[in-house]
Amino acid sequence: MATAMAEHWTPSSWQGHDVRQQPPWPDAGVLAAATRELAAYPPLVSPADTDGLRVALAEAQAGRAFLLQGGDCAESFAEFSTENIRASHRLIADMADILAAASGLPVIRIGRMAGQFAKPRSTGEEEKDGRALPAYRGDIVNGIAFDEAARLPDPERMFRAYSQAAATLAHLKDLAASEGSPFYTSHEALLLPFEQALVRRDEPSGRYYGAWAHFLWVGDRTRFPGSAHVEFARGLANPIGIKCGPSLDPETLLRLLDRLDPDHAPGRITLISRMGHEGIADRLPPLLRAVGREGHPVLWSCDPMHGNTVKAATGYKTRPMARILAEVRDFFALCPAEGARAGGIHIEMTGQNVTECTGGAAMLTEQDLSDRYHTHCDPRLNATQAMELAQLLADMLRRSSRGAAAA
Ligand code: PEP
Ligand code: CO
Repeated sequence: MATAMAEHWTPSSWQGHDVRQQPPWPDAGVLAAATRELAAYPPLVSPADTDGLRVALAEAQAGRAFLLQGGDCAESFAEFSTENIRASHRLIADMADILAAASGLPVIRIGRMAGQFAKPRSTGEEEKDGRALPAYRGDIVNGIAFDEAARLPDPERMFRAYSQAAATLAHLKDLAASEGSPFYTSHEALLLPFEQALVRRDEPSGRYYGAWAHFLWVGDRTRFPGSAHVEFARGLANPIGIKCGPSLDPETLLRLLDRLDPDHAPGRITLISRMGHEGIADRLPPLLRAVGREGHPVLWSCDPMHGNTVKAATGYKTRPMARILAEVRDFFALCPAEGARAGGIHIEMTGQNVTECTGGAAMLTEQDLSDRYHTHCDPRLNATQAMELAQLLADMLRRSSRGAAAA
């Protein structure tokens, strides 16, 4: 739509739109002081690296690369350590090697790391033992402990998140250099005052970059028409992801694409389907058809995590491996049936040996969940489960590359 282009964008133009999922900051003055200070801080990623990712994603759109995106649901201050960064990086690298060998394609590695701190919530309050407190929204906002002081949103937490992200990135850069393959970072662009404070204008090109991750995505709860988050993402030069959940209809998706990518720029948009194993067969094909009909260039990626969360009898939020694998299988069958390419995977996982998702070869049961349940938000695959998923993906990629060679 030409009108979308004509509308003026600035890093703060989102403020005139419908802003959801923001914490109830107790003091606007403290928030403003924190964002003013942040606005002077150095960028964490460079325009050149961000552009590099966009070129790589354009390759994936053209069928010449595959995307592997994964990491924590929510990074936490407590789990920050060299060992954890190394373990997650190692796991992504090992999975990428398996996928590359099977597909014969380069695998683009993006971590949900170095900035994935803020969480959208379905309810603003959490109730426990007859008491209601503000929901936990990630360590960048408040503390996970169920007490009043911890749950009070505190803008000062942003500074700790910034330094943790900077240190994580520096270490990831070293690890990537020793492997000889680039590693990119990503997070959900959720806390708009902070995201705005980290926008940097690239003087040579005059373009604006979200400067604390290469790839930013708009979550399923904030991708509605008229959303401030969509308005914010619209003017950035970064590659942008859109989470596509069961409530997204084809018409709304097409309008979002017009808004976020009026120029049909290669590598710009990744659509991350997260329908759930039950809904995907009904929900995804209409979206694939609509996007295909319009000829809008996108990369289709599968998030088999967020539509498959269940509550165990023991009270823990979990995700059964069988459902995760079922959604991945369906995704890889449904895309080609509609003439689209299954081009990537988006998962919540950790290199640590946690017990958060049930099933898999180790046959974790609901009774095992309490052993090592460490996530600050959603349940993650552990390293063994993630490698199992990689093996399943490898089998499917091997079959589809044979299919392509035969065609
Ligand atoms: C997430 O990726 O952690 C998330 C909240 O996803 P969604 O927006 O798809 O629910
Ligand atoms: Co999550």
